[in-house]
Amino acid sequence: MDNFYITTPIFYVNAKPHLGHAYTAIIADAATRFHKLMGRDTYFLTGTDEHGDKIVKAAEANGQTPKAYVDKISGLFKGLWPSLEVRNDQFIRTTSPAHIKVVQEILQKVYDKGDIYFGEYGGHYCFGCERFYTEKELVDGKCPQHETAPEYIAEKNYFFKMSKYQGWLIEHIKKNPEFVRPERYRKEVLSLLESGALEDLCISRPKSRLEWGIELPFDKDYVCYVWFDALINYVSALGYPDGDKFKKYWPATNHLIAKDILKPHAVFWPCMLKSAGIEPFQRLNVHGYWLIKDTKMSKSLGNVVEPLDMIETYGLNAFRYFLLREMSFGQDASFSEEALVGRLNADLANDLGNLFNRTLSMTHKYFKGMIPVPDNAEEIEDAEIKKLGQKAMEVFQTEFAEMRFARALEGLWELVRGLNKYIDTVQPWTLYKNKNMKRLSTVMYVMLENMRKIAVHVWPVMPDAAVNMLRQLGIEFDPRKVDLSKEMDAWGLLDTGTMVSETSNLFPRVDSIKKDEPEAAAAKPAKAAAKAKEAPKAVDGDSGAIEFEDFQKVDLRVGTVVEVGKHPDADRLLLVQVDLGEAEGPRQVVAGLADFFKPEDLKGRQVVVVANLKPRKLRKQLSQGMILAVKTESGMELLTASGTVPGGSKVS
Ligand code: MSP
Repeated sequence: MDNFYITTPIFYVNAKPHLGHAYTAIIADAATRFHKLMGRDTYFLTGTDEHGDKIVKAAEANGQTPKAYVDKISGLFKGLWPSLEVRNDQFIRTTSPAHIKVVQEILQKVYDKGDIYFGEYGGHYCFGCERFYTEKELVDGKCPQHETAPEYIAEKNYFFKMSKYQGWLIEHIKKNPEFVRPERYRKEVLSLLESGALEDLCISRPKSRLEWGIELPFDKDYVCYVWFDALINYVSALGYPDGDKFKKYWPATNHLIAKDILKPHAVFWPCMLKSAGIEPFQRLNVHGYWLIKDTKMSKSLGNVVEPLDMIETYGLNAFRYFLLREMSFGQDASFSEEALVGRLNADLANDLGNLFNRTLSMTHKYFKGMIPVPDNAEEIEDAEIKKLGQKAMEVFQTEFAEMRFARALEGLWELVRGLNKYIDTVQPWTLYKNKNMKRLSTVMYVMLENMRKIAVHVWPVMPDAAVNMLRQLGIEFDPRKVDLSKEMDAWGLLDTGTMVSETSNLFPRVDSIKKDEPEAAAAKPAKAAAKAKEAPKAVDGDSGAIEFEDFQKVDLRVGTVVEVGKHPDADRLLLVQVDLGEAEGPRQVVAGLADFFKPEDLKGRQVVVVANLKPRKLRKQLSQGMILAVKTESGMELLTASGTVPGGSKVS
């Protein structure tokens, strides 16, 4: 069995966790779950980075000792993960004795090898990054990360001979295209390494300046530089050098980081490993930054997004889905609640939720809630949807394995949307009306079995929702019993005769952004909120104005016209059968369209329907709703969406 070891950066404990930290942890969790389903033995490590200047300063600012402070903030990180369904196997802290021991062992090893020397150094020191910068690296004399002027510090220190490994590292990266992914970051590292001589790395801090660190085993007046200490967590956690986990999982390693800490991971860390005689890790995966309306998230701008606020408002499933679907791996992405609500409504409520709701209620209506035994005969639509499903699952699995989560989900949603279309095409309600139960049983089985496949695939992304979806299909989910790689070809895993739930309702629509009082202009949908507040003013005094709540009472839906007939007693009226994605099948709307459209012109078109209009009879024919149209000089135009949408989509 292949092993899969994944790590997140160990987070600094100088501030509480935010969206950025949550993102890395969530994708590490999603990747772990995915590889579990692919049959791999997985191990997922996260933790906290607790030494260094930065931490001491934060502790001082909070009037606490470093120890009390790191205990508190580390606890916040550890405590957050279960609420995000992040299931790490281990949580490492760099202040733990086991980690300290390994750091000292490695320092001694590298020192004994002659790769550490004592020297004097003067450089530009950024306290935020806890590192020296060369003139060349500064931007307008400032640290590129923190945009603050560094301090010039000259002192005697220990240095790691990183320059010695420059040639080896260039070769290694060239020979192993997978070593740094995506490609743009591999290129960035290579160009950095090839642009000039690599400087040696200052790996100590005199205790006279900083005591909060790991003491050097060969000089008690110095502590270890926080990055040298921190990077070692990836092997100390596994019990390096003799631990079973180290033997099992190293070097099958996938490090996961954002672009901010590319250099320590792609340059310092491989050189350290090489010097210590440890095999290089397999792969470094680098993602972009979450921005808030194109601005960096920062405490001083007051635009920090708190993961717990988001899950409280929109639910964990929608939050996790949004993060994975919205960011193209490797590139920056913009976070906003409007975008989250957009995805929740379109992809989850409309596409996925609708699919589950309508199929489950049809199963109840047509088969008393039991999964029917399919007929052997397969029609062209069944073969087509199976093929579409195979392709969708293949794309999902290939892209997910490469950490291209957005593309993976995009691929899977081809199947979700395909199934909604399949329902519209095969029209189960017509089969039911015509008592064609043989065909209907196949159609329902095709739907339900595909829904099972979708639920299993979304488990890494929305574990909670997936378990519920499967439960609704009568399955108690056990990841150990699933082999995702076989799902493409497998068929018929759903047991016939099983009782399914009557309704689903896993992803209720959110009609507007739930929080309206933005505390930070950039973080919250300030514009939308401001506009909403201004609106009543603009129509003040207009007696025809209605309240928003009144407008909300009107349920407008897009439906597909499946049949049109003439009204037997009225020349100007047509009897239009519109599919609104309801289990009962299409409903009849009596519309005054006969002067403008021939029945065949309307068939197949999508129209907007007032769906909650009280039913009434028009010349003895029942009308359940109203089709919206615009009268023009030359005739009549029908209202519709700008693209095809699933039947029943709500207009909002
Ligand atoms: N302690 C070091 C890492 C040592 S690893 C041996 C550190 N800590 S950190 O708390 O600053 O975390 C940085 C990481 O947090 C990023 O690499 C990324 O994983 C995550 N993110 C922090 N802000 C982020 C965004 N705005 N967007 C996406 N991820 C970000 O660096």
